[in-house]
Amino acid sequence: MEKVTIFDHPLIHHKLSLVRNTATKTKEFRENVSEIASLMAYEITRDLEVKEIETQTPLTKTNTYILAEEVVIIPILRAGLGMVDGIHSLIPSAKIGHIGLYRDEETLQPELYYAKFPTTLPEAHVMIVDPMLATGGSAVRAIDILKERGATNISYVGIVGVKEGIDRINEHHPEVTIFLAALDDHLNEDGYIVPGLGDCGDRLFGTK
Ligand code: PRP
Ligand code: URA
Repeated sequence: MEKVTIFDHPLIHHKLSLVRNTATKTKEFRENVSEIASLMAYEITRDLEVKEIETQTPLTKTNTYILAEEVVIIPILRAGLGMVDGIHSLIPSAKIGHIGLYRDEETLQPELYYAKFPTTLPEAHVMIVDPMLATGGSAVRAIDILKERGATNISYVGIVGVKEGIDRINEHHPEVTIFLAALDDHLNEDGYIVPGLGDCGDRLFGTK
């Protein structure tokens, strides 16, 4: 399992406990998913390149540092949308693209229904965000599409994943770095992550 980081941070553990809890209602669920994404982004962006610029303070000129590379956040719809605000609040200059994929309930194959990206994709640090990494089919399809559109520097940011999903990304796209808040035990016969947190899209948007 190369190029995988599983976060071990007290605040992420605490918020993950709340999102796993079946008693947590939509508002609190959405807030905690967003906050976990924000905490993860703070660590993930540690290695972004910066460039030096001259800045006029109220007292004098001085040299300061700003981000040198553009960040593009790509949520996989729907559930990925729950992670966007938390990351965007830290990187307001980031552009946002969208990939619409849903898993066919019978075959578990991802079906594409939407794709729209900023033109800066080829030069940008691209962060795919989706809370659930199950079979890995959606993640691999999203990465395939982004590469076809010219993206070269891609990371995958999820909240809960299983080994099967990690292995699938590694097999198809070994250069993609994977970040997760938790590595769960297994997938059940319906393709749900166990212990997991249920259907993330439905819990975020109150659709069940
Ligand atoms: C969920 C989740 C991922 C996908 C993961 O989306 O948000 O995109 O399943 O499963 P996989 O790793 O086996 O591909 P879903 O298809 O339920 O769509 P939704 O977000 O619109 O509910
Ligand atoms: N998608 C979800 O929303 N939950 C799972 O457990 C697996 C895929």
